Amino acid sequence: MALIVWNESLSVGVARIDEQHKKLVGMINELNEAMRKGQGKEVIGGIVEGLVAYTVTHFALEESFFARTGYPDTAAHEKEHSEFVLKVSTFRDDFEAGRLSLTIDVMNFLSSWLKGHINGCDQKYSHHFKEKGVK
Ligand SMILES: [Fe+2]
Repeated sequence: MALIVWNESLSVGVARIDEQHKKLVGMINELNEAMRKGQGKEVIGGIVEGLVAYTVTHFALEESFFARTGYPDTAAHEKEHSEFVLKVSTFRDDFEAGRLSLTIDVMNFLSSWLKGHINGCDQKYSHHFKEKGVK
């Protein structure tokens, strides 16, 4: 069973961002599946690496829209982004070094962070982006 199920309530009303959010949801579900199946370090490490890279790509897109549209809540939102990148990068490094294993707690952290961030911080820019014509 999927850990996160994407539904319309997660939509921020901007197609490009929704597509990227769906991809992040898919990657977290894939990681959860790999953990449940007890996949090896190489498989899980590869998914974690991909998740870190795609998260960085996704945040960069949102942040480029903030800059382009003069989004007033940029500082607070970017702070959430950089804290999350630091957290998942540290997780990746610790996992690679064998200091940490992928657990249900880690998966729950990732899924609740993503849902909470989309429903909180991201929903706040929805109206502003639509008003500025971001597509
Ligand atoms: Fe965001």
